[in-house]
Amino acid sequence: VAFKIGLLGLGTVGTGTAQIISNPSGRHPLLQEIEIHRVGVRSLDKPRNVQLPLEAITTDLEAIVSDPEVDIVVELIGGLEPARSLILKAIANGKHVVTANKAVIARYGDEIYTAANEAGVYVLLEAAVGGGIPVIKPLKQSLGANRISSIIGIVNGTTNYILTQMTAVGADFEDVLADAQKLGYAEADPTADVDGLDAADKLAILASLGFGGRVKREDVYCEGIRQVSAADINYADKLGFIIKLLAIAQGAKGYESDRLQLRVHPTLIPKAHPLASINGVYNAILVEGEPLGQVMFFGPGAGSGPTASAVVSDITNIVGILKSSGKTQSLDPLLTCTHQHYCSIVPIEELETRFYARFLCGDIPGVIGHLGTCFGQHQVSLESVVQIGFQDKLAEIVVVTHDVSEGNFRQALDEIRTLEAVKTIPSILRVL
Ligand code: HSE
Repeated sequence: VAFKIGLLGLGTVGTGTAQIISNPSGRHPLLQEIEIHRVGVRSLDKPRNVQLPLEAITTDLEAIVSDPEVDIVVELIGGLEPARSLILKAIANGKHVVTANKAVIARYGDEIYTAANEAGVYVLLEAAVGGGIPVIKPLKQSLGANRISSIIGIVNGTTNYILTQMTAVGADFEDVLADAQKLGYAEADPTADVDGLDAADKLAILASLGFGGRVKREDVYCEGIRQVSAADINYADKLGFIIKLLAIAQGAKGYESDRLQLRVHPTLIPKAHPLASINGVYNAILVEGEPLGQVMFFGPGAGSGPTASAVVSDITNIVGILKSSGKTQSLDPLLTCTHQHYCSIVPIEELETRFYARFLCGDIPGVIGHLGTCFGQHQVSLESVVQIGFQDKLAEIVVVTHDVSEGNFRQALDEIRTLEAVKTIPSILRVL
């Protein structure tokens, strides 16, 4: 055996990774040249679903990243610390790194890639976005000939499961979340998923690859799905839309675009759109570029086996390079992060998009006219206005706009809030 892995973490993905490596038959022959040398865990007593020599398992994670025999450190512990420090120490010790940690890469990618480039080692992260879906390597390599104009993804399985269930059974968010937690599709603390933070981490990574510049995680505008109600899903359906949590990166000028939009929010998408049929815990990423047109990556976005499949593909990638070139002389620019500058991000107020808004109004003559006048005064052009029903004796009016500037739309809403007939505006959503 030629190549030694130091595995940090033996949870869901770590176990899946160890299972693949310890059972290489029928897989790529390179797997037979890979050995799990050491495994770092939090507790030695926990029962494990994979057979590993007892002496390989340790709670001393620092010892693994500095072990001279380890060639590749595979970081699968998640979270920011100690993951970040361990990755940096592994790099400083000349180890290549494979990670599934979107939170660390989205926040500390700059520091990590600068260190990796200086040390001449790879940091690969196929498993960080879309679980088992190959999308990082395609963006780095297979699509490099294109000017990417947009990357639009359903990149969080938990929220996609919740929205799919809300749509299927007409239930509200809290009820479906509780069920999802019982079934293990949502964590006890669902914040990172339902507030869109996990999707925003993944978008920062995808955008950086697709648009050839570094991205600051805090520049990603982010809204989660807590405010999506069964009523909105129902209205959206009647108007020909499905509601999905989308992660959207749109550039004005393709590669090295200096005007990039980055946003995660629940979105009404037309039922005929390719992302409308992505249901349950599945993920999909739709990439558009010139001259390619559209390409969509679809598959299981989480889970032990699928995510481990992506982890092991990164390991074999590095092993393939080490085997063909011996010790790495210079890094392959198609596999490293070569850009240094930051993309400039368009503020959300300057976004041009369609909106959906639902109003609860007193059922008095002229209220639809007042709404139309306020929108018109702020250059907000309306595509449709419908009053479908009543709720607690209030008329429920739903408006869909044409493409308008978010700033103008917000100003119109501020004025509408002052109208006596308008009682509340329970939802405001963007439309693709
Ligand atoms: N919590 C993530 C999701 C899975 O629900 O998609 C790992 O990224």
